Amino acid sequence: STTLGQHAAARGKYFGSATDNPELSDAPYVSILGSEFNQITVGNTMKWQYTEPTQGQFSYGQADTIVNLARANNQSVRGHTLVWHSQYPGWVDSVPASQLLGVMRNHISNVAGHFNGQVIHWDVVNEAFEENGTRRQSVFQRNIGDSYIAEAFRAARAADPTAKLYYNDYNIEGLGAKSDAVYNLVQSFKQQGVPIDGVGMQAHLIIGQVPSSVQQNIQRFAALGVDVAITELDIRMNLPRDTTKDTQQANDYRTVVNACLAVTRCVGITVWDYTDKYSWIPSVFPGQGAALPYDENLNKKPAYTAIHDALAGT
Ligand code: G3I
Repeated sequence: STTLGQHAAARGKYFGSATDNPELSDAPYVSILGSEFNQITVGNTMKWQYTEPTQGQFSYGQADTIVNLARANNQSVRGHTLVWHSQYPGWVDSVPASQLLGVMRNHISNVAGHFNGQVIHWDVVNEAFEENGTRRQSVFQRNIGDSYIAEAFRAARAADPTAKLYYNDYNIEGLGAKSDAVYNLVQSFKQQGVPIDGVGMQAHLIIGQVPSSVQQNIQRFAALGVDVAITELDIRMNLPRDTTKDTQQANDYRTVVNACLAVTRCVGITVWDYTDKYSWIPSVFPGQGAALPYDENLNKKPAYTAIHDALAGT
């Protein structure tokens, strides 16, 4: 039967999944990963902690493994992520403030340079805003200042001129203070000529709580002249699953897929891994989970059918 990736491609979009290196020893998992999706995001091993664990010593083996697998399966790759307040090595905290801009540029230059031509997008900066729209006080914000985001995008463009450059964050799927902050950032970048091509809406959502303004919000970013991607979609519930919750979840997935399909500049959707077997949710939100379209036994859930039918337009 026709896969999610094929249906998405027929609509001019991709439908992808994140993955992580430890999962690649699971052959049935890898089989579905390679067949059902036409885009892959490297879930962990492109992050600073993995790619520059020691200052100036770069390590790409694990990320290369996933990129090569994706290429073998004719899947595009989203690069995730160059600058983030989490999953960076401890030595970054010890860099003198006056040197951190150079260190950040060097990191971006090396990592985006290594993957030049192999990724369609980079999540250049991840999660830079608080819920109220102020800047998160990360090491980069504290030691470089507001300009670090623009500097990161300039460095990424120089290292890989063909990848589309994204700002990526959570809780920006609907209208609100945080989404407004990202909107203002993109608008100012556009006015100043800072190279930005897209906004990634992570979409770590909760059943029954998909914001009603998702399509309107995607549309307003598109109107600024940037693409939008749904980058880390999952829709969690309080465990255990039951039929009512599964039905709600299926409806919620349909809503998100239809919102993207309705806006030409929404280029694709990525689930944050495709199976409950490998979801990050239960370890971070105890008692919650079952957030993905395949269950822990790699069987399709009602959410799968909803995504499939929405992409197929049936
Ligand atoms: O690699 C070690 C392994 O050696 C060790 O045995 C194991 C023990 O817990 O930990 C492993 O590292 C874990 C790593 O994932 C790889 O599995 C870390 O503890 C764990 O914290 C880390 O979690 C990742 C998380 O980002 C960190 O914040 C998740 O896998 C990853 O899915 C998640 O992804 C983020 C996006 O990058 C940004 N948006 C939010 C999203 C969910 O948090």
